[in-house]
Amino acid sequence: MDQQEIISGFRAEKANLLPILHALQDNHPQNYLTEESLKAVARHLRINLSWVYGVAGYYSMFSLKPRGRYIIRVCNSPVCNMLDSSGIIDVLSGILGIGKGETTPDGLFTVEEAECLGICDVAPAMMVNRTVYGKLTHESLKVILDELRIMKNEEK
Ligand code: FES
Repeated sequence: MDQQEIISGFRAEKANLLPILHALQDNHPQNYLTEESLKAVARHLRINLSWVYGVAGYYSMFSLKPRGRYIIRVCNSPVCNMLDSSGIIDVLSGILGIGKGETTPDGLFTVEEAECLGICDVAPAMMVNRTVYGKLTHESLKVILDELRIMKNEEK
């Protein structure tokens, strides 16, 4: 589905700004919002482009630069932090060879730090795109990454 089809699927109401931005970002293979898409949203909703940029820049789930196919968001809020979320991020960085906010050269993974994901009962936790993973261990991380690589290969 192209960008204009996605935008046209929403009524031209300001309240639809966040759902439209989510839909556009989810639809982009590099998981981000392009300048062109933000301009199209502003035109559709008849709102100022700077407002659209402000909203897209405010929420950490939106990105204005290209990211990986899988966005790994590791919670580093207090409950997860007490259960070694920093170690989880270190292990991820070690396996993938990238730091926080970076994307693997193959464009597959981006690692980000997140605020509380609202699933503290399964801390330490992370989300990969819209899927939640909890009770993470160094071992389970490796399994999850392998599964994601297999899923990507099966898409081909
Ligand atoms: S503190 Fe990590 S999910 Fe709440």
